[in-house]
Amino acid sequence: MQAIDSIQIEGKLSTLSISEPADLFESWLGNRSIASIGTNAGAPEIPFQGWRHFKEAFPPELIARAVRESDIRVATCLDPFGGSGTSALACQFLGIRPTTIEVNPYLSDLIEAKLSTYHLPALRGAFNRLIARVDDMEVSADLNAFKRNAPATFVEPGVDSKFIYKRAILKRLLQFRSAIDLVRDERLRRLFKVLLGSVAIPVSNVTVSGKGRRYRGGWRDRLTKTQDVDRLFSELVQGAEADLKLFGSRPVRDYSLLRGDARLLTAKSEPIDLVVFSPPYPNSADYTDVYNVELWTLGYLNSRASNAELRARTLSSHVQLQRVYAAPPNGSKLLTAVLAKLQEQRNELWHRDIPAMIGAYFADMRTILHSIYGRLSARGKVFMVVGESRYADVKIPTAPILSALSADLGFQVLSQEPFRSMRVAPQQGGRPGLAETLIVLRKPRT
Ligand SMILES: C[S@@+](CC[C@H](N)C(=O)[O-])C[C@H]1O[C@@H](n2cnc3c(N)ncnc32)[C@H](O)[C@@H]1O
Repeated sequence: MQAIDSIQIEGKLSTLSISEPADLFESWLGNRSIASIGTNAGAPEIPFQGWRHFKEAFPPELIARAVRESDIRVATCLDPFGGSGTSALACQFLGIRPTTIEVNPYLSDLIEAKLSTYHLPALRGAFNRLIARVDDMEVSADLNAFKRNAPATFVEPGVDSKFIYKRAILKRLLQFRSAIDLVRDERLRRLFKVLLGSVAIPVSNVTVSGKGRRYRGGWRDRLTKTQDVDRLFSELVQGAEADLKLFGSRPVRDYSLLRGDARLLTAKSEPIDLVVFSPPYPNSADYTDVYNVELWTLGYLNSRASNAELRARTLSSHVQLQRVYAAPPNGSKLLTAVLAKLQEQRNELWHRDIPAMIGAYFADMRTILHSIYGRLSARGKVFMVVGESRYADVKIPTAPILSALSADLGFQVLSQEPFRSMRVAPQQGGRPGLAETLIVLRKPRT
C-alpha cells in the first residue's frame, strides 16, 4: 500500500500520514461517526460522493462493517446494484477488489469515473483545452435532433408553457457535451461528462426527488444564465481534482464494472467473498425517471425506444412500462398471502399491474440471490438493505419475504435489523411507517 504525505490542496497544506487501508478509509470519511448505518446525511461532503449527490446511497461505513463482520478474509466484494458506486469505491479504500453491476448508463459512468485512476496534469490540460473550444462548438443540428426526439417538456416552448430548459441553457449544455466528445482520453471524457451531468439539474427549471420531477417555485422568474453552466462545471472539475489529489491513490485501483441487467449479469461475476447491496424498493419508483434529465441531456437516451429499452432492463419495481411480468416465486407463504390480499383490493389500486409487478419483483430478487449463491465463497456473507412499500391497505413486508426466499435457496438468515422508519425515506417519497431493514445472510460451509 502506498503512503501518502504532504498533499497540497489549493494552497493549504494537509498532511496525511497513512499506512493502513483502514486509516485511509477513515480519513476519506473525515473521521466522522454516524449514528446509524441508515443515514446518508453528510454524503455531499465526502470526497467523490459529492460529484453527484445520490440520495438513495447508503453510507460507506456499511461496507466497512460488512468486511469487519465477515467470517472469511474478504479479497473480493460484489454490489449488483451499483447506483453511485458507494460499495465499489469503499472497497478500493479498504484494499478489496470490487465488482459492481449497474444498468443505468449514466450511473455506470458515474461509478467508473470514481473508480478510475487519473494523471492530474493531463486532466487540467484537457480541461483548459475544452474551455478554450466550447464557445466554437456548432450545435444547431444537435439542438434540432434533441427537440425532435426528446420529450417535448425538455425545452421551451415545452408543454402547456412548461419546460425544463430555456433554449440558450440547453444549447450551452450541448456545446459542452460536444466539446467533451472531442477529449481524446476515454477516462477524462467520461469524468467530464459525468460532471456535466451534475450541472444539468441545477441549471434547469425542475428539481427531482424520489417523488418525481417538480417545477421549482417561481421558476419562470429564475434568471439562469449560460455563464452558470460554465461556472458550475468549472467548480465541479476543481472539486474533483481536489478529491483526486487527496484520494486518487487507493490501495486497490482495480475494479470490475458490469454494465447491464443484474438479473443476467450476477451469474457472470467473478467469485466473491462478500456481497453488499441495496436493490430498488418495490415502490414504483424507476431510476430511469429519477435520472431522466441527465440521461437525455448527456445523450445516453436519444429516442423513446431507447428510454423504453432501459426501463425494460431495470428490476420489476415499477409499473411505468408494459412488460411481461415474471411469475411469483415459490418459497414464501407470506408472499402468497400478500399477493392474495393485493388481488382482493385490486379495485383500490392505482394501477392494475401492481399485483403482477410485486410478484415479479420477488421473482427477480430470487434470481439474483440464486446467482449470488453460486458465486459466493463458502461462509461468505450477504448484507442487503431492503425497504417495505404499501399499496392501498396492503403493506409489502419485503424483509421477511426476502429472508424466506433466501432460506429456501440455502442461505442461513443471520439477522434482520430494522434501522430506520422511512419517514423521509428517499426511495419511498417520504411515507411514514415503512421500515428499511438490513438483512444479513451467510452461505453455509458446504
Ligand atoms: C438503491 S440504488 C443503489 C444505491 C447504492 N447502494 C449506492 O450507495 O449508491 C439501486 C440501483 O439499482 C439500479 N438498478 C435497477 N435495476 C437494475 C438491474 N436490473 N440491474 C442492475 N442495476 C439495476 C438502479 O439504477 C439504481 O442505481
